[in-house]
Amino acid sequence: MAEQTTGMCYFRAMKFFIDTANLDQIREAEALGVLDGVTTNPSLMAKEGITGDEAVKAHYKAICEIVDGDVSAEVIATDFEGMIEEGQALAALHPNIVVKVPAIADGIRAIRWFTDNGIRTNCTLIFSPGQALLAAKAGASYVSPFVGRIDDISSDGLQLIEKIRVIYDNYDFGTEILAASVRHTMHIIECAEIGADIMTGPLSAMKGLLKHPLTDNGLAQFLADHAKANG
Ligand code: G3P
Repeated sequence: MAEQTTGMCYFRAMKFFIDTANLDQIREAEALGVLDGVTTNPSLMAKEGITGDEAVKAHYKAICEIVDGDVSAEVIATDFEGMIEEGQALAALHPNIVVKVPAIADGIRAIRWFTDNGIRTNCTLIFSPGQALLAAKAGASYVSPFVGRIDDISSDGLQLIEKIRVIYDNYDFGTEILAASVRHTMHIIECAEIGADIMTGPLSAMKGLLKHPLTDNGLAQFLADHAKANG
C-alpha cells in the first residue's frame, strides 16, 4: 500500500486514482488534495477527442504536469513486438507513465519484458484471480480488476478483489491491486474494507464520499447559531 504524509507523520493509505482523460476533472480532483494518480484507456482518450499519435502523447504529458503520481497509458498493439515498441515510447514521455497492457498471453510476455527492462506496468482487463496471478508473476506493478463490469453481468466484482488480495498476501507479491471500473461510493468503501491498494474511479464517486445530510444540516445550524449570537 502507499505511504502518504500528513504533516510530519507517515502512514499507509489507500491510493485514489481518477479514471478519466478529462483535464478539467483531473485538475478538480487534484485540487481536492487527495489524488495519487490517473488511469486512462483508449475509450476515455477517444471520449475527449484525443486522436493521432502526437496528440495522444501530448495529452499524456499534460496529465503528468497536473498530477504528481502515476499515470497509466494503454498500448493499442496486441502483439508482443508492437506492445514493446509502443510501451517504450509511452514510458519515455515521463517518469510517472505506467504502461497499461491487456491480460492476454502476449501482454503477460510484454509485462515480463518491461519488468526486466525497468518499465512499470499496469495489467488491465483483469476478470479472474488466475489472470491477476499471472500478471503478478510477470512482475506487473499494478493489476486492474474491473469491479463494475463484473457487477454489470450480475456477478460480484468485489469478490474478485478479495480473492486477489488473499493470493497476493499469501506470497507477498509486490504487485498492487488497483480496483478499476469503480462506479460509486460504496465500491470505494468496500474496496477499502477489503484492502485494495488503490481504487480508480470517477470524480463523482470521490466527491460522493463527502455527502451526508447530517453534515449539511449540522453546518447550517452552526452557521445560523453563530450569526444569531454575533448579530
Ligand atoms: O479503469 C478501467 C475503467 O476505465 C473501466 O471502467 O466504467 O468503463 O467499466 P468502466
